[in-house]
Amino acid sequence: MQWTHIPVLAREITDFLITDPDGVYLDATLGLGGHTKFFISKLSPKGRVIGLDKDPGAVKMAVENVNDARLSAYNLSYLQAREALEKAGVQNVRGILFDFGLSSYQLDDASRGFSFLRDGPLDMRFDNTRGKSAADLVNNLPADELEDIFVKFADEHNAHKIALAICEARPILTTAALAAVIEKVCPRYGKIHPATKTFQALRIAVNGELEAVEGSVKILDSLTAAGSRVAFLTFHSAEDRIIKYALKDLCAAGGWKLLNKKVIEPVWDERKNNPRARSAKLRVAERIK
Ligand SMILES: C[S@@+](CC[C@H](N)C(=O)[O-])C[C@H]1O[C@@H](n2cnc3c(N)ncnc32)[C@H](O)[C@@H]1O
Repeated sequence: MQWTHIPVLAREITDFLITDPDGVYLDATLGLGGHTKFFISKLSPKGRVIGLDKDPGAVKMAVENVNDARLSAYNLSYLQAREALEKAGVQNVRGILFDFGLSSYQLDDASRGFSFLRDGPLDMRFDNTRGKSAADLVNNLPADELEDIFVKFADEHNAHKIALAICEARPILTTAALAAVIEKVCPRYGKIHPATKTFQALRIAVNGELEAVEGSVKILDSLTAAGSRVAFLTFHSAEDRIIKYALKDLCAAGGWKLLNKKVIEPVWDERKNNPRARSAKLRVAERIK
């Protein structure tokens, strides 16, 4: 199976980040290497990209897709980026991209359990070799904790009803079974599937995504030097809120400045051709000392 993922705002991010063709760059969320390919196309033979992903399968595919010795890829969380720089023998990087969330390949692969449109085991772990799966949460957490997850990570208005229905229907082992339980208590209106927010919230909880998003800003100083740039690509309001306020604090402290006062969003053409781009927001900053 040939999996695909179309990188969002790839040209804009490359133009912002790649300020020195001989520099070293960090793709903190390598995925299938879509953005990295753009970065490498602007680098000299001396330039390099260090790529990280929690998903071991993604790292393997990215190395094959990019097929360039200037990429050093590691199966590590971006919260371990310092360790990766040390492995790569690099002190700091000129630019960093955080492209949060999941890739289309993970969503499309039924065996990963991310999608209510494809039946598979209720898994949802980016790193599917360790940690608790969505099935572990759905089948073991008390109703009030499930409800909290649905509200906190997806603003689900029917959180209470859904949490109770889940507890009654347990055990729930597949994505289709969970989607059916939700559809029974929240009938479908319009285009959006009633399980959309529950699936988003579970994925965020399983992977500790918001804690990691918060952590991404905290590690910047340990990875960069004056003149380095960072780009954050977010896909829902909870992620964007964290980055917006964390960047505000970082800039107020004096070491960084924002490069875009107004958030950057894909133009109509890109949104039309790539549904994933529709909710994307880009924020870019530069270290000034
Ligand atoms: C939106 S995709 C990146 C797509 C990539 N930019 C491309 O063009 O192919 C996000 C990726 O981040 C990875 N990821 C999520 N949390 C991570 C973390 N804490 N550290 C490293 N990778 C993470 C996911 O496994 C997924 O492959």
